[in-house]
Amino acid sequence: MNFKRILFISAMNMLTVTQVNAQQKLNPEIEKKIDVLMSKMTIDEKVGQMNQYNGFWDVTGPTPVGGSAEQKYENIKKGLVGSMLTVRGVKEVRAVQKIAVEQTRLGIPLIIGFDVIHGYKTLSPIPLAEAASWDLKAIEKSAEVAASEAAASGINWTFGPMMDISRDARWGRLMEGAGEDPFLGGKIAAARVKGFQGDNSFSSPLRIAATAKHFAAYGFIEGGLEYNSAEIGTNTLYNQVLPPFKEAVDAGIRSVMNSFNTINGVPATADKHILRDILKQKWAFSGFVISDWASIREMIPWGYSKDENAAAKAAVEAGTDMDMESGIYVPYLAELVKQGKVNESYIDEACRRILRVKFELGLFDDPYRFLDEKREKEVIGSKANHEAVLDMAKKSIVLLKNEKNLLPLKKSGQKILLLGSLAESKNSPLGSWRIASDNNTAVSVLEGMKQYKESDLQYVKGINTTTEEPTFLTEVQYNTTDRSGFEEAKKAAKNADVIVMVLGEHGFGSGEARSRTDLNLPGLQEEFMKEIYKINPNIVLVLNNGRPLTINWADENIPAIVEAWQLGIQAGNAVAQVLYGDYNPSGKLPMTFPRNVGQVPIYYNHMNTGRPFDKDNNVFWTHYSDSEKTPLYPFGYGLSYTTFEYSQPVINKNQFQKGEKPVVSVTIKNTGKYAGKEVAQLYIHDEFASVARPVKELKGFELVELKPGESKAIQFSLTDKELGFYDNSGNFIVESGTFKAMIGGNSAEVKQVSFEIK
Ligand code: NOJ
Repeated sequence: MNFKRILFISAMNMLTVTQVNAQQKLNPEIEKKIDVLMSKMTIDEKVGQMNQYNGFWDVTGPTPVGGSAEQKYENIKKGLVGSMLTVRGVKEVRAVQKIAVEQTRLGIPLIIGFDVIHGYKTLSPIPLAEAASWDLKAIEKSAEVAASEAAASGINWTFGPMMDISRDARWGRLMEGAGEDPFLGGKIAAARVKGFQGDNSFSSPLRIAATAKHFAAYGFIEGGLEYNSAEIGTNTLYNQVLPPFKEAVDAGIRSVMNSFNTINGVPATADKHILRDILKQKWAFSGFVISDWASIREMIPWGYSKDENAAAKAAVEAGTDMDMESGIYVPYLAELVKQGKVNESYIDEACRRILRVKFELGLFDDPYRFLDEKREKEVIGSKANHEAVLDMAKKSIVLLKNEKNLLPLKKSGQKILLLGSLAESKNSPLGSWRIASDNNTAVSVLEGMKQYKESDLQYVKGINTTTEEPTFLTEVQYNTTDRSGFEEAKKAAKNADVIVMVLGEHGFGSGEARSRTDLNLPGLQEEFMKEIYKINPNIVLVLNNGRPLTINWADENIPAIVEAWQLGIQAGNAVAQVLYGDYNPSGKLPMTFPRNVGQVPIYYNHMNTGRPFDKDNNVFWTHYSDSEKTPLYPFGYGLSYTTFEYSQPVINKNQFQKGEKPVVSVTIKNTGKYAGKEVAQLYIHDEFASVARPVKELKGFELVELKPGESKAIQFSLTDKELGFYDNSGNFIVESGTFKAMIGGNSAEVKQVSFEIK
């Protein structure tokens, strides 16, 4: 019996007895298997496990280093590749896996990674949109659907969820995250990890390992400028940036990806403090750290590492276990060890962590367990998956304004005019990051509205949002000159009862490398909206966007505004069902919408400052002299076709000992005509602390479903986890003092009670 066979059988036995749990504890059986395997490995083979190459076609970064397909196959055969990214489809994955398993000396399987960001083929809404649902069950389900399709396509590991908190709408990658708040972001991160990884046993071949990215502070890059530096203080790092990552680690996440930025001058890829001290030691993370695409090599142009040798040494010593497409670990690391310049224990640790996850995924039991053509056909694009992403899409929509009862539209007897090229687009709603999906596969808004057969619907394009159809690898060209469709649209507008206008960003207008300095509706779109408004003001604006936009004129003048993001493959059906009233919107903004780009960064959990007052004609207070200080729409904001009323919250006592749990209760009543859902939000304010605390911090939320006239009482209990904070040394502390608890339907409209922790 050869060595591979022994491993195979014993690993099978082991998995039936013990399963890896969520607390990142080690499974002794797996550790023993790793010991046996590593005792046979040469230093080159160990470093080989730490190397990841891109596949053969889709490229998600600068020129890949692995060379031709033949060269990559050769290196796999030599045992110099531990992982491939962006290889997909059972046939393709089998081809590379077969080489690793059958032609290398030790037969160690590859782990296959992929950017499964918001669905695989059956695309769900962009992650920022999903976050607007505040519906953790739906979000978990959406990740589960994505995992199942990716797994059925041979993929073992996703590079998601992204959990970068950001307050900067200029940054294009906001669309991949959950917005500005670490509490909401942490809950969503954990829900997504669960959706991808299930119970962490990986007993089902439809669950895959997840990645917490990008570690860390990528959302705080200066000026919202992609790949830039982050100059960030300890208070923000510990209390805003790191909490979602901690939640993901506690949920059992199996990998963490470096961010491209520097943190206070040190590239995250070489940041020992966050990778070793915090992630690996304090949080006891037992999975592995993958670099971002070429982020090890990029430490050279950053001016941090003088050459490849220095970059390899810095990255591995800091705790970066796998090299994605820098092509630096394989040629340099083993040599550095042989020369005594890098301690072999770093390589052993990295290799062990990677093998651990491969064992956990069952790849040693059966390297082909994810490769089943029949399953691939059945799972990908199934009816159930389409239903799940449609449900997610409806829940992601946020109603920003609804005057004159313009919405819902009437299903018959109302002349409805639909305008804007985005309304007919089957591509833009798919959003960015959708490598495995096919272009032009979304249900457009036009198609969705046409399902309402009795509706008197006319479509006139009126405006092209872009001049040509962009791709993942091209810059979006917005239309700034072509007004040729305006006249026809204006003519049609005269006869319409209601106009639905779909405007905003193209789906590829946000995402990686899509930073903007202007947050207005791009190109001629605002001008078009104003021209139509002059003819007929009964307009419903349906916004498509991957970030907050500055839509002040629309907010002042347009009676109804629906935030519809990029909602994925079922976008048009979701929008239509909301517009015609078959679904009552309940989404709430996961990010503050600014009035102008100069307000950025603007966020609800800001500090009070020493001069917060805004009265008495005194100029010396915290304000802008040329703009309101308040946002256009606050964090947590969103309307419904019905209305809700909150009672005054009550608290079970006024004083508590440390460790006791204050319980805050409130009654919510549906005071309108429709059944609806409300996201009740609880915020706290720690009034005096050894490190000044924000004016409000979200610490609880609950979705409450109510029929017209119905009321429900809900309770939030506050544990130390909600009441404490990280001090500037990174210690979590709960301090005595007075607090406020505030409850409401958004961060700006709350009712409060006070209490004290003795
Ligand atoms: C670079 C991106 O920053 C990262 O999020 C992604 O996972 C990798 N490229 C792989 O595509």
